[in-house]
Amino acid sequence: MIQLRTEDVAATRAVAAAVADLVRDGDVILLSGDLGAGKTAFTQGFGAALGVEERITSPTFTLVHEYEGRLLLHHVDVYRLEEAGEVFDLALPEMLDDGGVTIIEWGDLIVPELPRDYLDLRLSLGDITEGQDVRKIDVTAVGSAWTARSASLIAALRSWAEVQD
Ligand SMILES: Nc1ncnc2c1ncn2[C@@H]1O[C@H](COP(=O)(O)OP(=O)(O)OP(=O)(O)O)[C@@H](O)[C@H]1O
Ligand SMILES: [Mg+2]
Repeated sequence: MIQLRTEDVAATRAVAAAVADLVRDGDVILLSGDLGAGKTAFTQGFGAALGVEERITSPTFTLVHEYEGRLLLHHVDVYRLEEAGEVFDLALPEMLDDGGVTIIEWGDLIVPELPRDYLDLRLSLGDITEGQDVRKIDVTAVGSAWTARSASLIAALRSWAEVQD
């Protein structure tokens, strides 16, 4: 839908804040891509924009952290799920029923378990010749809940849009 480029962590946090402005109760956001690409940094910017005051840290060992903001924020990291069966331990459907927004790091590993509608963000390290803080973020709306907001998303994210050759 739109490809973005950020030049530092503050820009990735600003992208996340722009997405947070468009988010609604019940939304799911999937973050995937390279180790250290900025999935947790994105979530921190996202949470800050939702008014979360607590420090957001990676839930690598607990799988899920929950934060209070304008909306409830469930922060999930499935990187350490050892086998597909453990997805059930996550109780994702129950979590979604709780309301709020759910952000899933490494969510691409559990696509079959996801609801039909989610915003898919793929983060990757930029070409090293561009400097070590460059990141690419590929944003795709999946399902009508997000495709209906495509135009608003594109408008909100335009300032980070990758210039196409
Ligand atoms: N443009 C950028 N966007 C995001 N993070 C950046 C950027 N430039 C540098 N960084 C740095 O890269 C690191 C990203 O780490 P972060 O933990 O957010 O990645 P991650 O994708 O969650 O990693 P993991 O796969 O281990 O969960 C941070 O130290 C951050 O400061
Ligand atoms: Mg992380």
